[in-house]
Amino acid sequence: MPQQPVKIAPSILSADFAKLGEEVRAVDAAGADYIHIDVMDGHFVPNLTIGPGVVKALRPHTAKPFDVHLMIAPVDAFVGAFAEAGADIISFHPEAGPHPHRTVQLIRSLGKKPGIVLNPHTPLSMIDYLLGDIDLVLVMSVNPGFGGQSFIRSQLDKIRELRRRIEAMSESQGGRIIDLEVDGGVNVETARLCIEAGADVLVAGTSTFQGGPAAYAPNIRSLRGQGA
Ligand code: DX5
Ligand code: ZN
Repeated sequence: MPQQPVKIAPSILSADFAKLGEEVRAVDAAGADYIHIDVMDGHFVPNLTIGPGVVKALRPHTAKPFDVHLMIAPVDAFVGAFAEAGADIISFHPEAGPHPHRTVQLIRSLGKKPGIVLNPHTPLSMIDYLLGDIDLVLVMSVNPGFGGQSFIRSQLDKIRELRRRIEAMSESQGGRIIDLEVDGGVNVETARLCIEAGADVLVAGTSTFQGGPAAYAPNIRSLRGQGA
């Protein structure tokens, strides 16, 4: 089972881009634990979104950790810019570059938390020799690129197995916290399945922002399994 209380990370991809600062303040006030920022390059994934300039502009709007999900290739060339812009966690896809361990070292050297993202097809063996050096593993429960897709249920087995591996690694490292985050198609029903499988951080775009600002707090509570 999860080692820490469930955290909710609203993905601002589903926010109103015309008033992003206001949206970030609203989800912060509504109880968000992390602010999930989806960075897409139109090359590694078929969509274009946010660059470091936007991250920097949002930084004064909240003290909550910025959970930056890089869907870009190459990765290393942009890590510095996102670190400087105010990212706290920087996650990337190991398929996006030839030397994922070097990228982990780079993120760590800048004082940021490195995370690895596993696409739906990516086996857990990808992180056999990375898990000891990272702070977060993000399991994609949709193919990256767009919000509003349906949860891919085969990822629940991956989450279960990953929970076992994280527990073992954490134990061997004196109880160090490694977040197990899930991203894509998370709603009240799939959130429950993810939590039962061992996830402790849930990214939620559509299901956080639906209904407008008055609904953000009840939406986040429901995702935690606390009822609206
Ligand atoms: C997809 C992104 C997700 C996305 C989630 O590539 O990584 O963070 O915004 O959106 P929902 O929660 O709507 O599936
Ligand atoms: Zn994401």
